[in-house]
Amino acid sequence: MSELEPKLVTNPPVATIASLAAHVGDTVTLRGWLYNMRQSGKLLFPIFRDGTGTIQGIVPKAAVSPEVFERVKSLTQESSVIVTGSVRADARAPSGFELDVANLEIVHLVPASDPFPISHKEHGTDFLMEHRHLWIRTPRQSAILRIRATIMRAAQEYFDTNGFVRTDPPILTPAACEGTSTLFELDYFGDPAFLTQSGQLYIEATALALGKVYSFGPTFRAEKSKTRRHLTEFWMIEPEVAFMDLEGDMQLAEAFLTHIVTRVLELHRADLTVIGRDIAKLEAVIAPIPSESENEAVILSEARSAESKDPEEARPVTTAGTFSTTEPGAPGSAASSPNLGWSATTPRFPRLSYDEAHAMLDAAFKAGKLEAPHIYGDDLGSPDETYISSQFDKPVMVHRYPAASKAFYMQPDPADPTKALCVDVLAPEGYGEIIGGSQRVDSYDLLRARILEHNLPLAAFEWYLDLRRYGSVPHSGFGMGIERAVAWICGLDHVRETIPFPRTLNRIYP
Ligand code: 4AD
Ligand code: MG
Repeated sequence: MSELEPKLVTNPPVATIASLAAHVGDTVTLRGWLYNMRQSGKLLFPIFRDGTGTIQGIVPKAAVSPEVFERVKSLTQESSVIVTGSVRADARAPSGFELDVANLEIVHLVPASDPFPISHKEHGTDFLMEHRHLWIRTPRQSAILRIRATIMRAAQEYFDTNGFVRTDPPILTPAACEGTSTLFELDYFGDPAFLTQSGQLYIEATALALGKVYSFGPTFRAEKSKTRRHLTEFWMIEPEVAFMDLEGDMQLAEAFLTHIVTRVLELHRADLTVIGRDIAKLEAVIAPIPSESENEAVILSEARSAESKDPEEARPVTTAGTFSTTEPGAPGSAASSPNLGWSATTPRFPRLSYDEAHAMLDAAFKAGKLEAPHIYGDDLGSPDETYISSQFDKPVMVHRYPAASKAFYMQPDPADPTKALCVDVLAPEGYGEIIGGSQRVDSYDLLRARILEHNLPLAAFEWYLDLRRYGSVPHSGFGMGIERAVAWICGLDHVRETIPFPRTLNRIYP
């Protein structure tokens, strides 16, 4: 292997598998690994992977030297190789191309006595998770990780190109942001400290310094639940904007998600196909809504049918699908999306107030489509979110939840102070919540009272209260969990496949 090292370091590969379309008819050198091999008489069909994709090679015994033929034949799964050959377009090949192999060098031969643990037969999830460091080499997992990278890049790109300043909040924090039950506590030189659950409180400070900001980093929650949506360590991207209300927040979320899905469709059709994703479902997300009234009609008919069954519980649906702006001058209404610097002409995602969502769930329960009733006043449970989001082909924004079921920092709705000016964006196809956001309490007195009501340590929040002492303004933001977005966009059953090394209740290895 040593004589190969200089070549590995100094010669950049002339081609990657993903770039072969530009090399049809050329002789190229690829560096990668043997993914699989088929043999048919005097023909070898090795499948190579290089991190950008896979390609099938063809090695007829008569076309290469006996040494090369024997070398290829000796390859074991995941042996590393440098292979030279000419690229041929082949409509039947999954990648569209095949490689007529002329030469092959072995960088490292996996010994037959200790084969690569993940063979081409089926493996159980536990086994795969235990071998996550190797599992990520398989085409499907690699495709997911490439799409994850694009989702992260597109998310940042959206904010970077719309006037936001990235400000990184601390990861070691003195207090909770999202409730005390899921805090990871650690010993900070004798004092308790916690791993951050969200950068929000800190980016509220940087938003009041810089206007439009975002943070992007790992967040931690000691989630005791084993669900397909929860990790204990996950990545969150969070914008925060001064002088923006809930309406602006919803428009921002819509434009942001549209940008991300657009980018994935632009760059990853091949990867989406490898994963088996129904691409039409993603195209539907960014397709313009035929007409506003059609969108509203769907929501209205759902909510009305619920209402007619139970007039007591379902509130009249006067604002279905539309945002009813707060009165000018009312608390929290100071800035209804003034010149936010991004386009609000993106496709409209359907909107449901909490009350409308409740009415829908109530009707679904009565029709036997839900196992348990949704209790008015409770947050939406996973089955509730799954049901609602499976009713739409675009992300649906559920806004104005009961304040009692939500975080301490959320601004009450001036039209009904029992409700919070908040929004959860539920991804379609039953994926549930991918974004949580809100307008923040901007009154010092109210925020202080909320901190006390929630039994949070006032001293740890003095700095946060300062934001309401000095030039307080209405401001809003949201957080999107990257893994939830990846699970939805890739159409995965579980978030454990959305991050290179997932951390869950039961897993911290590898
Ligand atoms: O809804 P959450 O709890 O909202 C916040 O943390 C706010 N402080 C964000 C803000 O307004 N700046 O979390 C936001 C998102 C969720 O919608 C979900 O996508 C993701 O973070 N998330 C998780 N993802 C994976 N595993 C978990 N345990 C998650 N908890 C939240
Ligand atoms: Mg939430």
